[in-house]
Amino acid sequence: MAALGDVIEIDEQTVLVLGQELNVAQGRPDVANALVHRVEDTLVVVDTGVTVAFRAALQAATRRVGDWSRAVVLTTHGHPDHVGNNDLADELGVPVEHFVPARDLDQMRDPAPYWVRSLSRIAGVVPLPAPPPLAGNKVVSLFQPLRPFGATTRTYEERPLERIRIGSVRFTGWTFADGAVRVLRSQGHCVGHVIVHLRDNGLLHLADEPNGPCGAMADADQLKIQTTLGAAATLFEESEAAILTDGHTFAVRRGAEALSYVDGLLEQAITLQEAALGLTQTGAPIRPSAFAAGYAATITKLGVGGANPNAMFTGMMATNQLGEIGLRPESAGMDAPWSRPVLDNPAPVAGMPRGLALIPAVVAMVGWKLRGRAR
Ligand SMILES: [Fe+2]
Repeated sequence: MAALGDVIEIDEQTVLVLGQELNVAQGRPDVANALVHRVEDTLVVVDTGVTVAFRAALQAATRRVGDWSRAVVLTTHGHPDHVGNNDLADELGVPVEHFVPARDLDQMRDPAPYWVRSLSRIAGVVPLPAPPPLAGNKVVSLFQPLRPFGATTRTYEERPLERIRIGSVRFTGWTFADGAVRVLRSQGHCVGHVIVHLRDNGLLHLADEPNGPCGAMADADQLKIQTTLGAAATLFEESEAAILTDGHTFAVRRGAEALSYVDGLLEQAITLQEAALGLTQTGAPIRPSAFAAGYAATITKLGVGGANPNAMFTGMMATNQLGEIGLRPESAGMDAPWSRPVLDNPAPVAGMPRGLALIPAVVAMVGWKLRGRAR
């Protein structure tokens, strides 16, 4: 059984520092795995986890990969279990650069609303220990110290975007250490997410993209998750990738095992979507709580709960899955029924206003022209 801060040695220049699972009841945050790698004289750290204990383990790990005289710290995405110790960059004692994805800046600067929003979507769907604003703040409060920014932090997007071809797969992203480290945009698990490919040993770090067969967060994009996993599978098939690591399983997978793991996730995504159709096939409006219960039972039966399974994440996945198969909430109410939109053809749109509607239209037109918007 892995413990926080345990290290898996991948090769002489690379180690994976293991995090831990979330346990809200015990006040224990989840901590993402961090990757430590060296390319010649450059130390590369991918994600920094959270908690003082993990920080110490990560610092120790940087001394296990040989000598380095400069460093690059790369953040895969803005979730607090990945970014808490980002200011460690300032303590490495060498020239350092630190990059984060621009699209995750809002949640990094102010994480509570991001989590309150995600929990609001499952209020009444699965049991929550407290109303979403309280529960969201409670969850975020577990992640201490939370220092996503250091003195050198910049966004990847400040650098010119590069086309990066690995084998037959074309990505866009940014390269570091003379091309030995490729940061590839994936943006599935959340809007800013990136994955990392190491040229020298063929390691592909998917961070949270393979967290489960269905993305849980409000800003997840299921197609981007599946596209990223598909690209990963191709890299392993073509031997462009040889080693697979991620943010939350405490394992290093190699070669054929990595390929079957990724293909398994893609298969599970399809199976779950089919199960979701089965659960909604009567066509009657369905309460998300009822759907989530059936969805959770399916996940248990199939054994496909993902890397960090708990009722909260399952509820979030269920809500995303309902949207994915085309249902929409009928109102903003708590646990309001979801159904398929009625396929009414649109009424003709009035062109030029007539009658009394001419008066506000004329006022709007005069204002528009006076402000010079019509040029
Ligand atoms: Fe995450």
